[in-house]
Amino acid sequence: MHLAQTQPCEICGGMNWKIVVHNEKESVCSGRELVRNDQPLIKGMCENCGMVYTLRSPLDQDLDKYYTQVYSSKLKTDNYDYVNFAKGKRFGQAVNDFVLGHEFPRQGRLLDIGCGKGFFEQAFIEKYPDWNVEGVDPSERSIEIGRQLAPQANFHCQNFRGEDFPDNQYDLVAMHTVLNRVPPRTFIGAGADLLKRDGVMSIAIAMLPEAPFELYFADHHYMYHSQHLRALAEEFGLELVVSDEVGSIWRYLFRKSGKSTVQREALRRESERIKHDVLNYALEWRRLFERVTRLKDAGKRVAFYGAGTTMMITLAQTEFPRELVFGVYDDNTHKHGEEWWGTHVQPRSEEISRADAVVLCAGPSGVDVMKCDLMMPEEKLLYFGMPEIAALNA
Ligand SMILES: C[S@@+](CC[C@H](N)C(=O)[O-])C[C@H]1O[C@@H](n2cnc3c(N)ncnc32)[C@H](O)[C@@H]1O
Ligand SMILES: [Zn+2]
Repeated sequence: MHLAQTQPCEICGGMNWKIVVHNEKESVCSGRELVRNDQPLIKGMCENCGMVYTLRSPLDQDLDKYYTQVYSSKLKTDNYDYVNFAKGKRFGQAVNDFVLGHEFPRQGRLLDIGCGKGFFEQAFIEKYPDWNVEGVDPSERSIEIGRQLAPQANFHCQNFRGEDFPDNQYDLVAMHTVLNRVPPRTFIGAGADLLKRDGVMSIAIAMLPEAPFELYFADHHYMYHSQHLRALAEEFGLELVVSDEVGSIWRYLFRKSGKSTVQREALRRESERIKHDVLNYALEWRRLFERVTRLKDAGKRVAFYGAGTTMMITLAQTEFPRELVFGVYDDNTHKHGEEWWGTHVQPRSEEISRADAVVLCAGPSGVDVMKCDLMMPEEKLLYFGMPEIAALNA
């Protein structure tokens, strides 16, 4: 169990945490499921560098079981993957396209840490069939699927530990959407050790400014601004090659240069702004919950656009009654027909404009797209980051 104030910050070593979320209600996991809190979800912000860390989570007792058994078995089909709004494609596809946009030698050795269902192995082997490809992940179901999708790869079903793999042997080490779950100092440090000189580290990672819903996630323990990741990479002698900082998950390729620095200059310059932003995100959530609660208390019927974690967080935090849900809409055809909060997910239609209000359930860039698609008056829209003065008929 993590305890507030006893854990050093993974990025800067700071020991002072300011509590930014203390949630006694149900929390949400990244797969959208709710977890009951037999202990509260507590998120703290490092008072020095602004990194956000889960000081306590209802999942703490059972985190290993969550990954070995629960995680990914909850996904309905083997190839299910979430759609990345900002990229207009699946998350896995966005990562694969980014990494495979880089030229690698014809032969080499790859380790994919937290490989999940082997989507990356499959795509990588297709382009580089002569590479020796390995994936490691504790999720039994994911590894089973990975072995089917990429039979040529060698999968290890276990938690990643650096000492189980040989140092200075890998040309590419990947950590795609893993570092929000595991201690980044240990994982990036161990990954850098495994790389040959000039080897490449590929990282895909949720960034808090674009994924503010992480503040209410029970299973995201580490929440970053890009300066945190860059500072840690520099410390382990990883030089940035290319980045793609779009949407909720950002992508990076680093090269092992061996030139390490712990100056954290960019982070130091930006930390005041980062801390200010983090406190603001926490406030924005509370503002959204207050607005939705007001509508609930006035008996208004509210539509939810985007059947995802933001919707689950908002419903759970406001204890929104099912009978006041006007409808749940989503552009992802995979979700149509699924039952959410007592109603079926439908494609967006004209009907949505008849709701008393619409909650746009997405991160900042997703919200912009949704606003254009809906073309509804601003005062009927509620979303994370909405203008404070929007007058609602509540
Ligand atoms: C969001 S999924 C990403 C899967 C895959 N990399 C992808 O991009 O589709 C996160 C993965 O991290 C894995 N994971 C969690 N803890 C881990 C650990 N200690 N070592 C290795 N993998 C871990 C989970 O089982 C899960 O499959
Ligand atoms: Zn810190």
